[in-house]
Amino acid sequence: MIRLINTSSGPVRLGSINFWVMDSTSMASVSLPVFARDLALSYHRAHFIPMSRRWTAPSLSAVSTMSSMRVSIVSSRFFISRSAKYEGFDDVYGHSMEDDYSISPSDAAQFMYDRTRQPQMSAFLDESDNIAEEDETGTEGQTYQRPALSDVDEIKLLSCLEEMHNVIGDSVPEHVLIDIVLKNNFDLSKSGHKVDAVTHYQHERGQRKEQLHMVVIGHVDAGKSTLMGHLLYSLGQVNKKTMHKYEQESKKLGKQSFVYAWILDETGEERSRGITMDIGLSKFETPSKVVTLLDAPGHKDFIPNMITGATQADVALMVVDATRGEFETGFESGGQTREHALLVRSLGVSQLGVVVNKLDTVGWSQERFQEIVSKLGAFLRQAGFREPDVSYVPCSGLTGQNLVCAPTEDELLHWYHGPCLLEVIDKFRSPERPISKPFRLSVNDIFKGTGSGFCVSGRVETGMVHAGDKVLVQPQNEAAIVKALTIDEMPVQVAFAGDQVSATLSGIDMQNVSVGYILCDPVKSISVTSHFEARIVVFNITVPITKGYSVVLHHQSLVEQAVITKLVSQLHKSSGEIVKRRPRCLPKNSSAVVELHTSRPICMELYKDVKELGRLMLRIGGVTVAAGLVTKIYH
Ligand code: GTP
Ligand code: MG
Repeated sequence: MIRLINTSSGPVRLGSINFWVMDSTSMASVSLPVFARDLALSYHRAHFIPMSRRWTAPSLSAVSTMSSMRVSIVSSRFFISRSAKYEGFDDVYGHSMEDDYSISPSDAAQFMYDRTRQPQMSAFLDESDNIAEEDETGTEGQTYQRPALSDVDEIKLLSCLEEMHNVIGDSVPEHVLIDIVLKNNFDLSKSGHKVDAVTHYQHERGQRKEQLHMVVIGHVDAGKSTLMGHLLYSLGQVNKKTMHKYEQESKKLGKQSFVYAWILDETGEERSRGITMDIGLSKFETPSKVVTLLDAPGHKDFIPNMITGATQADVALMVVDATRGEFETGFESGGQTREHALLVRSLGVSQLGVVVNKLDTVGWSQERFQEIVSKLGAFLRQAGFREPDVSYVPCSGLTGQNLVCAPTEDELLHWYHGPCLLEVIDKFRSPERPISKPFRLSVNDIFKGTGSGFCVSGRVETGMVHAGDKVLVQPQNEAAIVKALTIDEMPVQVAFAGDQVSATLSGIDMQNVSVGYILCDPVKSISVTSHFEARIVVFNITVPITKGYSVVLHHQSLVEQAVITKLVSQLHKSSGEIVKRRPRCLPKNSSAVVELHTSRPICMELYKDVKELGRLMLRIGGVTVAAGLVTKIYH
């Protein structure tokens, strides 16, 4: 226990106060500057807070955590003089100062006494003096003083603002726009250029090929990694020397058939077990696109990793094994072919390429290809894929047939004259990028970078971000600075919606950021809630959903416990009309509106505002039971 003892002689003197500070092993003399206001507050909180420095609200609450060290004041004289002199201050400083503010663990850590770090008590107190004062500029609630302008300039300003609003909406605060207009002397072409995200995007990326994120999905051992590894090798992304090394090493392990899969399965465990466990990331180019490839694991134990990949994807490539019996295993219930297709569809992927793989094992049979196409076609239509958005391509990942050029195998050439896999990928439509919406980045990974600070990686869902921007990390509600941005390990100054980026953050502790958190615009922050309404589609479940049903909610990369607290209505599956209000349960394959409560607050957007962040999935015991869209957020 640390005890603060007032050693001033006579009545407490305003200006400074001397203490002996001691714990069980050491003792130090300190002098703290104290003003009248401090004493009132100090008494109330049982702390001394030097108000000679400007304490802003978060710092004040940080100091309040000193109570966790059980700081106590042992001087009755001090109390007496306080009560006589500072009557009425409790009104000013209220009784719930600290209740109003929350304190992050990193802030708290600064004030925690750690004997190993601070062997001397005096060092601890010195440290508290070093707390940086918060910068008040730019804080919310500060009122912006509009500069005085002549009537003509005022009109010019208003017309410039109106034009800018027409282009960018309300995503940029008024005072920022005014500053820009004035700086550029009412020249809208210059001003607009700075703030118009779309123009900025055109300027930065106009000349480049379109970007596309593609996730490769399918049942375990369908040949996803082999197919994509071979495609990368055929495109010259992997040099011959590396390939030769993989060949030798895989032979030694008795896993020679996995040699192409090793290009994407990079960890020792993945290679020795012969299965993909985490998303394999790579990049290649088609004639019109730069494709970011996300090779998902097919094993059902790694579904959360597969979902992480699917949340970043614009389109999906589904690989099915044409071998007799294998396609059936993957397609029947419990197989991942259906599960993956439903998952990507509910995550908003609408374009799908289906690779009927390993056709070499069935002698390039057209009949088998047609059989698979018709079975899958019926299912995919039910799952919500439009027929023109699905294309089927026969391949063999191992032999490399029909990957980057027309097949050479006579038996296949005999009946197939369609596009090869690379052409199918090239024909996918790139999605529109919601660049002019407020900035949102969903965090998929956190790691220690090489320099100071730490890095988060994820996809910019909406808006854009510059290196040097201040961002808000939600749901923690903590500010951070984006010190640097990299795309594919190349440093960039700006990243736009749709980009997969790594951002180096400073001003925030690494422990305060988790996978699933959202970095967002500090002015237009994302909603944080633990109660919302969603329209869901119930999958093929065995036990009907009832009120009070516990589920695991997947929202982007976030995984959170949730409870269905209300069954609002059951809807007609195709028309969406209400068929029953307050149903007692939701059977399999039904549609409904439900209310959900999560155990902790999470970031949410309405589906109608930001599609990418308004979708969710509900899973139980490793099985997806429903997918849905957020329709209402309760605060
Ligand atoms: P997970 O990532 O674990 O779900 O597996 P995967 O879908 O990535 O399969 P992977 O590429 O690891 O291949 C699994 C096995 O299928 C390997 O032994 C491959 O050699 C074999 N394989 C892949 N493609 C073909 C093919 O076109 N023909 C034949 N005959 N075998 C193939
Ligand atoms: Mg794989």
